[in-house]
Amino acid sequence: IAADRDEEKRAAAEAAVAEIEAGMLVGLGTGTTAAFAIAAVGARVKTGLNIRAVATSLATARAAEAAGITVIAMDDHASVDLCIDGVDEIDSLFRAIKGGGGAMVREKIVATAAARNIAIADSSKLVDRIGARPVPIEILPLARAFIAEHVSVLGGKSELRRNENGLFQSDQGNPVLDCRFGPIADPPALSAVLDALPGVVGHGLFLTEIDALFIGTPEGVRKMRR
Ligand code: A5P
Repeated sequence: IAADRDEEKRAAAEAAVAEIEAGMLVGLGTGTTAAFAIAAVGARVKTGLNIRAVATSLATARAAEAAGITVIAMDDHASVDLCIDGVDEIDSLFRAIKGGGGAMVREKIVATAAARNIAIADSSKLVDRIGARPVPIEILPLARAFIAEHVSVLGGKSELRRNENGLFQSDQGNPVLDCRFGPIADPPALSAVLDALPGVVGHGLFLTEIDALFIGTPEGVRKMRR
């Protein structure tokens, strides 16, 4: 099953990378699905495709450079041509939860700056209603209890993300609260409340950014566009 999922991720990633055109500034996503896209971009670059890329995480920047892709800093660029990134969950209206890898803050900047965003995923990621997976919230440390309390009032259960070294830290050095809400009845309302909470650096609800969804399936890649 894991091998089938990987095959679906790879096929979806390659279909999205086929849409990259010469001269583009490409946003490269983070995670296991985006890793297949980075490999596919690297292969196209080796056969002569001339593009530049911005990375949505330090890990992606390293992987892209290792694949021979020219990675430039996002700092000097207000817009990106095409962003390709994975999702944790997505519904048929292209409303997604991202940030399983903890990179949602940079991912949302690059996605919002992008003229076009293609989400790539295996077939397990498409759901009727998002919310089974936690919504990650990157926070300033001093706001931890304050934000956890607000999440609880909103009906969510929050947990500080940890990894093998202790507390998880984002690329910006901040902690992440993983918040389980269960099926989210009104994603725009939840997103608006989270956006307005002081101390929230960013969160993993991506409700308007995604323009197309390429899903790997046993029958091939299903391409859905807004
Ligand atoms: C990274 O922060 C995330 O937003 C990923 O894009 C998302 O978690 C999907 O990751 P996988 O492709 O590894 O499932």
